[in-house]
Amino acid sequence: MFSNRVASDLTPNRLSTAIARLREAGIPFDDLTESNPTRVGIDYPGRLLDALAQPSGLTYAPEPFGLPSARDAVAGDFRRRGMTVPRDRIVLTASTSDAYSMLFKLLCDPGDEVLVPAPSYPLFEYLAALDSVRTRTYQLEYHGAWSLDIDGLRRATTDRTRAIVVVNPNNPTGSYLKCAELDALATHCRAHGLALVGDEVFAEYVLDAELPRTSSVLAQRQALTFSLGGLSKGLGLPQLKLGWMVAAGPEEFVRPALERLEIICDTYLSVATPVQAGLPALLTEGAGIRTAIRDRVTRNYRALLKSAPRCPSVDVLPAEGGWYAVIQVPAMQSEESLVLHLLDHDRVLVHPGYFFDFPREAFLVLSLLPRPEVFDRAVSRVLDRVEAAA
Ligand SMILES: Cc1ncc(COP(=O)(O)O)c(C=O)c1O
Repeated sequence: MFSNRVASDLTPNRLSTAIARLREAGIPFDDLTESNPTRVGIDYPGRLLDALAQPSGLTYAPEPFGLPSARDAVAGDFRRRGMTVPRDRIVLTASTSDAYSMLFKLLCDPGDEVLVPAPSYPLFEYLAALDSVRTRTYQLEYHGAWSLDIDGLRRATTDRTRAIVVVNPNNPTGSYLKCAELDALATHCRAHGLALVGDEVFAEYVLDAELPRTSSVLAQRQALTFSLGGLSKGLGLPQLKLGWMVAAGPEEFVRPALERLEIICDTYLSVATPVQAGLPALLTEGAGIRTAIRDRVTRNYRALLKSAPRCPSVDVLPAEGGWYAVIQVPAMQSEESLVLHLLDHDRVLVHPGYFFDFPREAFLVLSLLPRPEVFDRAVSRVLDRVEAAA
């Protein structure tokens, strides 16, 4: 009766089962997987949502790419970041996930492939499968710093490949794309007729400003390119459901891409009018939320760097940006059993590296969002557990 886009085995994994058991029993635990910024004590301006009550939001004026005033506001936000983006290259979406779906529809036929990084955001495979698209991975390699395996990426390219996804900075490794990597990617895309999709939702959360990085995939002009962003991460407002993509590259590719995207977006018209009408005010009045989140993740990352040396078997991998930290721990037991042990005995929830497709064990991924007192207590328990096991 059902399509194969959704896997037929819906059995929860062991970690989800353990979490459900604790929740059912009302047993509290410190959640170092928290990725929802609205649940970690960040101060949100009380009247921010007044912006959603603009009288213009009462009129439904469908625009496939979004209201011109909202797209101008996005262009203004790119200007704040030092980038010039014309309004006619900006397409509003309900979220980044929505943007991926639009792009898969634009670029891929069923069975086509997109290349995605590993380790990275675990949802790519699901997002692609829902549009009958397959993912193939290329590796990010760690040698004291993360770098993109460009030879592996070339080898992973087949005649079904339609696009390459890069996450800049990547979740969870926190690594930004370097200029030489962007050049190599763009050259490869151009040579093989592929689109470059840059997921830049965490672009403004720089943890190490000293390191070289490209601010955006929009810096290159060779290949058809899309940069994805939105309120979910950019302002810590996932519940408002507004994202965007910016198209760039050679005019001969951008024009037909936008003509087709217009048809796709016109079919769904997925962005609500009140949030578009309120966008100019949200982007200016909500800027303090981004600063508060940046301060929080920076504070927690520094606290982790300070406390980890007491546990010599733990290595904190350098994070250049984003909301997560990765620690390497001795592979004396499987990541799964360590994570289950931490939950059952220490009441701390962390993500195992395999969730993000790390090529080997043992890594733990820690969200840097939690309240400092929760973060410090939970990190201390993780370090004690790892030290005891080692
Ligand atoms: C790298 C990355 N891209 C996209 C998303 C989803 O963003 P949105 O809420 O805009 O769909 C996430 C959410 O965690 C993410 O980590």
